[in-house]
Order: sequence, then structure tokens, then C-alpha cells
Amino acid sequence: MNAGIIGIGRCLPEDKLTNFDLEKRMDTSDEWIRTMTGIEERRIARDEQDTSHMAREAAQKAIEDAGIDPAEIGLILVATVTGDQPFPSMSCMIQQEIGAINAAAMDLSAACAGFMYGVVTGKQFIESDVYKYVLVVGVEKLSKITNWEDRNTAVLFGDGAGAAVLGKVSEGRGILSFELGADGSGGKHLYQEEKFLQMNGREVFKFAVRQMGESAEAVIEKAGLTKEDVDFLIPHQANIRIMEASRARLDLPIEKMSKTIHKYGNTSAASIPISLVEDVEEGRINDDDVIVMVGFGGGLTWGAIAMRW
Ligand code: ACO
Repeated sequence: MNAGIIGIGRCLPEDKLTNFDLEKRMDTSDEWIRTMTGIEERRIARDEQDTSHMAREAAQKAIEDAGIDPAEIGLILVATVTGDQPFPSMSCMIQQEIGAINAAAMDLSAACAGFMYGVVTGKQFIESDVYKYVLVVGVEKLSKITNWEDRNTAVLFGDGAGAAVLGKVSEGRGILSFELGADGSGGKHLYQEEKFLQMNGREVFKFAVRQMGESAEAVIEKAGLTKEDVDFLIPHQANIRIMEASRARLDLPIEKMSKTIHKYGNTSAASIPISLVEDVEEGRINDDDVIVMVGFGGGLTWGAIAMRW
């Protein structure tokens, strides 16, 4: 039997920062940001709402949605590059609070592809009968590593968390195929130096357009499917132009692609699970749909999954 997602949840900070707010803080415009990225506003966590708080809230909702006893979770994986501190890990911090008293816990660093890496790792433990349930959280408080003086990066990012409980699902459903990859030679294009995130936007853009399309096509083929079988695409919400390129490559109509970037910006490891929750809640994803999720990020890293919901 395949591993699949049996519960989902998310946490979005209440405070909104709009493009118009940013216009007052730096030399930018709503028009530039909307046209170049698709972003209209993003959520920013307050000082007292740290990464572990958002992770915990999303995790609790996913556990409730799955309807499981948290003591049966065997492993917690938290994907983040913006933990409260290097250690203890975010996964250890939430382990006890969510009642996962029997779970092993570790964090995972793969930037925006982190949730894909987490789900694929969790799948291995479930399908080999090591653990009954694995909790995967993607969470970022990017606002704390954003240089608010740098308009090239400050307009792009937002804070939030998304979580999924993995467990066994019936035959033919769940995770059908995956692809993970990395290219350390591209690490120089997207990294944290001292306090702040640094990015060579053009290089990341080129890489993302190529890699998102290739990875999406690869998981479709590995699952023994064709593009026509895909019901819904959830691309990492980094830039609407990158997302559109992967949608075009799969020949999907616009309503079959997840789009939350206008509301939440790029929330890195949290972007795919945040979108997944919204698409399920709003009825864009239904039982038995074939979904392709695809992400890329600093490292450089990438990951894609084909799954039947
Ligand atoms: N407001 C107004 N003008 C701006 C802004 C801004 N916020 N930012 C840049 N500009 C200007 C530049 O100064 C430049 O002006 P010039 O032509 O006079 O020199 C012009 O706009 C074009 O700038 P570019 O950086 O060349 O524009 P580009 O087309 O590359 O778009 C963008 C920039 C949107 C950042 C794009 O490169 C992109 O989305 N890249 C991918 C980013 C990404 O996905 N990052 C993932 C990070 S995920 C993670 O792991 C954390």
C-alpha cells in the first residue's frame, strides 16, 4: 500500500502587508510587484509568533483533520530554514506540545523544496512499515531574514506554515511517484549571509522555469500517467511567471493550477502545503484527483510528487 496524505492543516499570521504598504517603505510600486511576481499582499508574523508557534498550529490542525491519536506518530519532520534557533529543532519543540510523545523528531533544510523532501522521506518510513504515521510540516518566518532595505528581495516573501499527516491509504491512491534533486553549484544564487537572504533573481528564475517543468513531467511519467491524466498542479508559489511556465508545459487550463501567491507571497517550505489546504477546502481538489506538486529552492534543490488524492 502507498503512503498518502490523510490530514492537512495550516497557519497564516493575521497581519497583512500589502504592496501599497511596501510603496511607503521602499522605492517600489504595486504595479511592478504585481506584474513581475503576481504578489499583492503577504502575511507577516508578529514578534511573539515565532516559527515554532506557526508549526505547532498547522500540525495540530493536520492531526485533528486526520483524526489520529498523536501518540501514534512515529516521526516528525519540520522543513524550515528559519527556525527559532539552530537547536533544539522545531520538530523537538512541537513534539511534546502536540502530544506526539512517541515520535522521533528532526528538522530538514531544503529551502522551498523542503516540504517535498519531507513528504518523500516520510513515505519511505510508512511504506516500509517502520512508522504508522509521519507528520511533515513546512514552515517559515522569512520576515526575520528579509532585508527591508533591499527591494529586490523584500517584496517577495511572507510567513506561514502548512502540515500534513502521512499514513497508509488504499491501493492506487496516495503518493504514486516522486523526484528529488539538488545542484550545489547553484548555491551561490540563493543563500543567507549574516542576517539576510541574498538572491540572484534572474539566475533563480531561469533555473526554476526549467526545473519545475522537467520535474513535473518526470513524476507524471514515473507514475505511468500522461499529462492528460493530471487534474491539478500545485507549483511552489514563488513567482506567477514561473508558475505559468510550468502550467503551460503541462498544457493545463488556468483553473487547474493552484494560486495563492497573490495573498501570501513566497512562504518557501510552507507554500505548497498552505496552497494544498486552500485548494482542498475550496473544492478545487476532490477525491481521486491526480495532483502534481512541484517545488524548487535554495541549495539549489527541487522536488516533485504525483499523488492520487
Ligand atoms: N520594485 C521596483 N523595481 C524593482 C524591484 C522592486 N521591488 N526589484 C527590482 N526592480 C528593478 C531592478 O532594479 C531592475 O531595474 P533596472 O532595469 O533599472 O536595473 C528591474 O526592476 C528589473 O530587475 P530584475 O531583477 O532584472 O527583474 P527580473 O525580471 O529578474 O524579476 C524577480 C525579478 C521578480 C525577483 C525574478 O527574478 C524572480 O522572481 N526570480 C525568482 C525568485 C525566486 O523564485 N526566488 C525563490 C526564492 S525561494 C527560497 O529558497 C527562499
